[in-house]
Amino acid sequence: MQSPKPRLFSGMKPTGRIHLGNYFGALKQFVDLQDTHDTFIFVANLHALTGLPSQETLIEDTRNLVLDYLAAGLDPEKVTIFKQSDILAHASLAWVFNNFVSMQYLMRAHAFKDAEAKKSEVNVGTFDYPVLMAADILLYGTDVVPVGKDQKQHVEYARDMAGKFNNQYGEHFKLPKELILEDTGVIPGTDGQKMSKSYGNTIPLSATDEEVKKAVMSIVTDSRERNEVKDPEELVLYQIHKYFNNSPELKAQYAQGLGYGDAKKMLIDDIVTFLRPMRERRAYYENNPKLVQEILIAGAHKANDIAMKKIFDVYEAIGLTE
Ligand code: AMP
Ligand code: TRP
Repeated sequence: MQSPKPRLFSGMKPTGRIHLGNYFGALKQFVDLQDTHDTFIFVANLHALTGLPSQETLIEDTRNLVLDYLAAGLDPEKVTIFKQSDILAHASLAWVFNNFVSMQYLMRAHAFKDAEAKKSEVNVGTFDYPVLMAADILLYGTDVVPVGKDQKQHVEYARDMAGKFNNQYGEHFKLPKELILEDTGVIPGTDGQKMSKSYGNTIPLSATDEEVKKAVMSIVTDSRERNEVKDPEELVLYQIHKYFNNSPELKAQYAQGLGYGDAKKMLIDDIVTFLRPMRERRAYYENNPKLVQEILIAGAHKANDIAMKKIFDVYEAIGLTE
């Protein structure tokens, strides 16, 4: 029986170490909502194929993402955690949806346009990414999808896809809603651009104290002296610091000309303190690989039951079961 709580579905791609931008932009919401929602969080490993990772890299990134989920505080007693590739229905439903969307429609997707701007050849997996993502979401009768701002369009596409299918075959899919923390914004990296795996400007969630120190010391500052009055919001240091301490006192200190060296020391302390409990949880699961495996197997069973029912229902509606 489905829980009376609204169903939440989301996940991330295993494509490198999860960082503070991913945490505050997306992962934190998963953790915060796990008590009030019937929560499904998956590892989008089929989505990671668009970058053609090597076998070792994909295995390593998958393992790390699961550890990051658990370290960040997802409670496996409450949350269904699973790997996308364990559930064959994702690709099956994506194939069905492929027939409901035009190439022109997919060419309007931001992610495709960005990929096209960077490379003259874009693989079909990248092009079809929103269709697979719609299948992910819609297989589970999802009510809400917490994601970072840049994923909003993908959830809109999922809603469109549900609508198109329902129009032709009757009500088979719930229309999901994205859940975006409007005030979260984009967390800058050490160089002031958006914190991103592709820019080498991240502070990973699994960073050691040494890595935190090194990253914070490299955050860009300007040549203004201590005691010069500054607008905190224009300082990369503060734009990161406020996620760890949003007190008016800290903001006032920055405004009154807190020296960059002192600010960096405080920020290092704040990040290290923040990451400590995560590091402990991570170590616990890292030392219990069997437990992690059991969590993923239990997650796959639960997810598969739901996904199989849905794909069967869809196949039947289409006329594929006779
Ligand atoms: P990605 O690293 O692009 O796979 O993103 C995974 C999730 O983290 C998505 O929901 C993004 O919106 C979110 N995210 C990634 N980088 C940032 C950032 N610097 N600030 C806020 N959210 C982010
Ligand atoms: N596209 C998402 C990202 O890059 C990952 C993802 C794939 C996802 N399928 C999903 C997120 C379904 C939410 C729901 O972060």
